Amino acid sequence: MSTTDAVTFWNGVYADRPAAADPRPNTLLPEMVSSLSPGDALDLGCGDGGDALWLARRGWHVTAVDISAVAIERLTSLANSHGLDDRIVAERHDLHESFPQGGFDLICAHYLHTPFDLDRATVLRVGAHALRPGGRLLVVDHGSTAPWSWNQDPDLWYPTPHEVAAGIGLDRATWRVERADAPRRNATGPDGRTAEVTDHVLLIRRTA
Ligand SMILES: C[S@@+](CC[C@H](N)C(=O)[O-])C[C@H]1O[C@@H](n2cnc3c(N)ncnc32)[C@H](O)[C@@H]1O
Repeated sequence: MSTTDAVTFWNGVYADRPAAADPRPNTLLPEMVSSLSPGDALDLGCGDGGDALWLARRGWHVTAVDISAVAIERLTSLANSHGLDDRIVAERHDLHESFPQGGFDLICAHYLHTPFDLDRATVLRVGAHALRPGGRLLVVDHGSTAPWSWNQDPDLWYPTPHEVAAGIGLDRATWRVERADAPRRNATGPDGRTAEVTDHVLLIRRTA
């Protein structure tokens, strides 16, 4: 499947649903980030932009990237309407091909899952190298299939956080795993159904 397919698919996902006036952050973001001092953040696969808006409201300068131009245009418009345009830069990138410039104190990748080719390990490795010393890479992946998930394949394998970390392959002298676990939570799907889901949480700190 080509990049064009991926762009068409993800633009369709966002175009098919109305733009939220004030999208909410992912549940784990406040828990993981509230204690950190704001700096420069990068949101990989920002989607609706709830995480970028939450970070910007807490003083972070956010670069938010997504393959979908629809998502990027919506977030740019939201940043303007919420008076956060000086804190959010939304850029379209296919992370398969390009990565934003700069150094970051926090890089978030929430549910950076796609049915198309994406070498996530390489993307996350590039991200880890773009961290400033002391900066953190937060990866939150699905660890279970919710009833409303688009992929209901019963054989779907969710790599554990330790497997994701091993795939990134970072030098332990420079990066340290601070958290790698699989918390459960009650979630509500887009259709209003609720279910218990598992997240795979990986937090890596660049120490030098
Ligand atoms: C499952 S959604 C998660 C969105 C958002 N982080 C959230 O938690 O709601 C995956 C996101 O990754 C984006 N994405 C998929 N492939 C990508 C790629 N190659 N480069 C950049 N973004 C990509 C999609 O457009 C989509 O917004």
